[in-house]
Amino acid sequence: MMTERIPVLVTGGKGMLGSALALEAARFPRLDVRAPGREELDVRDAGALAGWADWVRGGWIVHCAARVDVEGCAREPEEARRTIVEGTTNAVALARQAGARFLYPQSFLVYDGRTNPIAEDETPRPLSLYGELKYEAEKVVTAALPEATIVRMAGFFGGEASDKNFVGRIIPVMQAAMARGETRFEVGTRIWQPTWTRDLAYNTLLLLSRGGSGHYQMACQDAATFADIAHEIVAALGWSERLEIVPVDASAVSGSELGRRPDKAVLSCARLKAEHLDLQRGWRPTLHAYLDHPFFDQYRLESTR
Ligand SMILES: NC(=O)c1ccc[n+]([C@@H]2O[C@H](COP(=O)([O-])OP(=O)(O)OC[C@H]3O[C@@H](n4cnc5c(N)ncnc54)[C@H](OP(=O)(O)O)[C@@H]3O)[C@@H](O)[C@H]2O)c1
Repeated sequence: MMTERIPVLVTGGKGMLGSALALEAARFPRLDVRAPGREELDVRDAGALAGWADWVRGGWIVHCAARVDVEGCAREPEEARRTIVEGTTNAVALARQAGARFLYPQSFLVYDGRTNPIAEDETPRPLSLYGELKYEAEKVVTAALPEATIVRMAGFFGGEASDKNFVGRIIPVMQAAMARGETRFEVGTRIWQPTWTRDLAYNTLLLLSRGGSGHYQMACQDAATFADIAHEIVAALGWSERLEIVPVDASAVSGSELGRRPDKAVLSCARLKAEHLDLQRGWRPTLHAYLDHPFFDQYRLESTR
């Protein structure tokens, strides 16, 4: 007899994490994952969300839809609030209407990085409006849904052409520098945890399948400076003979940013580990596995293939 599948609605389903969740869903046959993008389901529209109530009844909502650009949120605070806080309020209302469980991917940017590693019970002190709005949205979730699952995640890489984060942005910039004949490239020494969206998605669906509730943190097994990451990209793409990464103090980068971010933020994932649910790998092997994708052949020097 076929067991009934559990409906899982992923909002923001075409984004970095949402699309990885849709891909990793293939490994969870008991989950029926649907991941509509913004055009199909705009979370600012409470009525559009309510239209999913029958389908998601008794299942899960993984609420990925958000504005995630720190600078964009600072420039357009009202619009950012509408998406992040009001959108979350609407998604929470759907969960209550449908009796669905709620999983909220939270950003490590709710923290200021004053103490490291950052424990699960650390008090958030966001440095940017983005972090403030994400924390406000989290409080909307926990006030209305005490059983909700909040997963505070480290910074992402993933999604090839759709990667808007450091790895996605730095590769074409470094390639352009080489094309101009430059041989040295300066990168800051801010320390974060570059974590592959595919690993996060798999781990998130596993956590959800086990019914985890309350606050978790999820990140790759170690940490790296942005200069370390750039160095590893250069090695993986076969550029080592052409481009030298020169580490520069993190403050050289942070001074020019519109929204502040911590110069060091390393999450403790003690709760995941204690529950034997920490399936994250190190950032180096996952970055190499990611850069092995044919999408990156356009950047690779012949000798590395
Ligand atoms: N990126 C990170 O490093 C990171 C780290 C930790 C946690 N997180 C959290 O993880 C979640 C997913 O982030 P992500 O990096 O996957 O972001 P992303 O790639 O920007 O995905 C978010 C998606 O939400 C969509 N969206 C924006 N406004 C919407 C609306 N009104 N209704 C429905 N969808 C809307 C976006 O569509 P458009 O692109 O068309 O606007 C985008 O596809 C967010 O909650 C984020 O805070 C991210």
